[in-house]
Amino acid sequence: MQTSNQIPGPPGHFLFGNLAEFKRNPLACMIAWQRTYGDLMRFKLGAKEFYLISHPDLAELALIQQQEDFVKIYDANKPNGLALILGQGLVTSSGDLWRKQRRLIQPVFHRSNVYTMLPAMAAACHKLMAKWDVLPPDATVNIADEMLRLTVEVITQTMLGTSVLEQIEQIAPALEMSLRFAAKTAMNPLRPPLFIPTPDNRRFMRARRLLDELIYGIIAQRRANSAGNNDLLQMLLDTEDPDTGEKMGDRQIRDEVLTIFSAGHETTATALTWTLAKNPETLSRLKDELDKTLGGKTPDVNDLDRLTYTKAVLEESLRIRPPVGITLRKVAKDTPLQGRSLKAGDIAVFCIYNMHRHADFWEQSERFDPSRFLTADKRNKAYMPFGIGHRHCAGTHFALVEGQLLLAMLLQKYDFQLSGDDLPEMEMVVTVKPVGGLPMRICRLGSNSAGN
Ligand code: HEM
Repeated sequence: MQTSNQIPGPPGHFLFGNLAEFKRNPLACMIAWQRTYGDLMRFKLGAKEFYLISHPDLAELALIQQQEDFVKIYDANKPNGLALILGQGLVTSSGDLWRKQRRLIQPVFHRSNVYTMLPAMAAACHKLMAKWDVLPPDATVNIADEMLRLTVEVITQTMLGTSVLEQIEQIAPALEMSLRFAAKTAMNPLRPPLFIPTPDNRRFMRARRLLDELIYGIIAQRRANSAGNNDLLQMLLDTEDPDTGEKMGDRQIRDEVLTIFSAGHETTATALTWTLAKNPETLSRLKDELDKTLGGKTPDVNDLDRLTYTKAVLEESLRIRPPVGITLRKVAKDTPLQGRSLKAGDIAVFCIYNMHRHADFWEQSERFDPSRFLTADKRNKAYMPFGIGHRHCAGTHFALVEGQLLLAMLLQKYDFQLSGDDLPEMEMVVTVKPVGGLPMRICRLGSNSAGN
């Protein structure tokens, strides 16, 4: 059996390993390393060993068949990465707490329940379009920012029965800052601990306080007036532990609410942003389908089923620009993986981005081609935008329904054109997004494609 030392990888600095190169551009490093060293390679950040896994068979072995040996990286007693913001919510918790909370929260995301949220999603989109309608013709907007505001409105209205758009100018930078900080700490063991008041640490603490105030404020407001609500927040407030009869504590409710808020808007905003930046032929075929199927109206549940090309564009967009580019696990004990031996305590990085472009699984993998998802059997084991195994995305249906609905509404009413010649570079800050946003010209289409 090959030991971890024999797994190929780049040479590195004796103290810092590959940190300098990795810090400059993690995604570019992972793409280049897979090309040079293959589907299972190792690298070092400081003293910490990482394995980069870019083959779906290895991902399936680790995340499904050997899931007990590959555990979430977060430790409740020593929070790092996303757990610094999200505490013990669904994304960052493990063991019995995670199992209990997942069982509790999952029904909110069942297909039939998500369908009841369609009117609230559509209302959020109408609100955005009303704002755009008073812009000068051919105005240029930062679509990444606009999609973020749209998906923030969707997630808060559907899950928390409220809007935070009035505070968005404070919330968006606080979230962005915290996510950047979390991404850096997760992959950089040499960062100073939070109790050392470096400027970065202080900025992070300030941002986290702002998010705390927001979420605790929403919880308090609901406690004061809970009549007629049956959303996620109400369910978290009402649930009693079947064994103890106790209600969930405010801290746990805060963690779950902030988790669903964060996991549920950045990801879909990024997916919509990249999709709207697609080539004119794709967008024109999309519009044809929308015109024929909807004739200007807002789609309902049955329409969504018939919008097969719209769905295929979204799916292909999630392949070529997966919003979640990697997922991380800690190796729980010395573990064999397909003839290689991985060491306890090391970190496995499952690179969704590389798998989605793996030449063994995708023909012309760099080409954007929605027809990959129009065939009767479109399954491909190298496709995993929502992760795989027991920790796969809880919001998969929500995201697909939301994505399809919002795309259908926006593209019926506006034309979107890149304001520069090329797409901006990508960067990975938890999600894989355009560096500096995505400026686009939006032009309102004729009045018979009203998207009412
Ligand atoms: C295009 C949109 C989305 C993408 C690409 C995406 C992707 C993912 C991925 C890859 C994971 C697994 C991470 C891992 O294995 O460590 C995940 C987990 C999760 N996602 Fe999503 N997601 C999206 C939208 C959403 C939405 C809309 C929600 C909620 C409203 C959501 C809630 C969650 C939660 C709660 C988890 C943690 C599940 C668990 O560990 O039990 N996601 N997501």
